[in-house]
Amino acid sequence: MQFRYQNPTLIEFGQGKIAQIKDLIDKSRKVLVVYGGGSIKKNGVYEQVSEALSSHSWFEFGGVESNPTKETLDKAIALGREKGVDYILAVGGGSVIDGSKYIANAFYYDGDGWDLLEGKYTPKKALEIGVVLTLAATGSESNTGSVITKNETKEKRFFHSSFSYPKFAIMDPDVLKSLSDRQLANGLIDSFVHTCEQYLTYKHGLLAQDYYSEGILRALVELASTFEKRDDKWYANLMWLANQALNGLIGLGVPQDWATHYIGHELSGLYGIDHARTLAIIQPNLLRVLKEQKNEKLLQMGENVFKDKNLDAESVIDKIEELYKFLGVDLKISSYTKDKDIKPKVIELLAKHGFSHFGEKGTIDALVVEQILDRSI
Ligand code: NZQ
Ligand code: ZN
Repeated sequence: MQFRYQNPTLIEFGQGKIAQIKDLIDKSRKVLVVYGGGSIKKNGVYEQVSEALSSHSWFEFGGVESNPTKETLDKAIALGREKGVDYILAVGGGSVIDGSKYIANAFYYDGDGWDLLEGKYTPKKALEIGVVLTLAATGSESNTGSVITKNETKEKRFFHSSFSYPKFAIMDPDVLKSLSDRQLANGLIDSFVHTCEQYLTYKHGLLAQDYYSEGILRALVELASTFEKRDDKWYANLMWLANQALNGLIGLGVPQDWATHYIGHELSGLYGIDHARTLAIIQPNLLRVLKEQKNEKLLQMGENVFKDKNLDAESVIDKIEELYKFLGVDLKISSYTKDKDIKPKVIELLAKHGFSHFGEKGTIDALVVEQILDRSI
């Protein structure tokens, strides 16, 4: 077991915590508050943030899209430079947080911020970021990931930067109550698949990571079954589980897959499909195609997550798929686009982005992607 681990993000978890911002950002800072399409203006979050920042100098940039685009974020950078800000406060879900990471990392760069996504620019300096999380799904509030779309080419790519760890993340589960069923289901599924990407690979014997992953998966299955009876604890559980699924802990030193995500990102880039929905479509079919490679872990999941020793690999995959159906997801790409050229487009983009042999054993190539897509279209 070999790894290096540090997660420096301070978490303030609980009801009423947004007010803490006033002490978490130094009064000398000039803050750019970044948010999405306006949900925070309807659910009271904007007022709470404004109130907490009443002694600070701050500006705002709204309009970051779901699947945030570099075209919009470049405008936020221009505004931030014009106002001379030195701190970003992201108020939103994964899209706003990821977008804020792009803004922060590209802020001091004279070139095109997209270079971050193509690995052509590694920042030596960046703005600091604070987060008020409004959607539980991505774990972006305390990880270094950021996924950005370029409208011009319909590419969706990701980058990591050590500057992207937020200084703090405020997680008030009450904020989740204004989310639609669709977004809550998306959050649950994204968290579920994040855990699977780090768990459903092959036996490695690292027990803390394995059993912790199983705990997260079991809890998420339980939340799915009580989806219609959500109480305060339900929201708090979802918020913390989503964070735990992708704050780095369960992935330490273990083989990881992420192929569902890489294929899913191309589908969001091309057709604007919600991130979690791309995962729900692709993952069961990917597991079917790679059933033998993943057999041992699928059986372990049947026993320890679904609590049934007698499930074979195919039945475990069926259970996962049933979960997504139960949460109301359409599991065919053709429900989201009428495009007839899905396969060649996805395969071409994956190749362009350097994914020629991927998955935990590097066994996924264009041919395997084709088999997965054949089952998914
Ligand atoms: O834009 P607003 O008006 O705020 O509305 C948003 C948006 O329409 C709405 N929403 C957010 N909080 C709300 C709310 N509506 C009512 N009440 C609230 N409290 O929800 C919609 C979706 O928001 P978004 O931020 O797009 O969702 P999510 O958190 O699922 O983020 C998805 C993005 O994160 C990326 C995805 O690829 C996608 O671009 N990911 C980031 C990762 C990371 N940084 O580690 C990992 C993930 O695998 C993922 O790829
Ligand atoms: Zn995800």
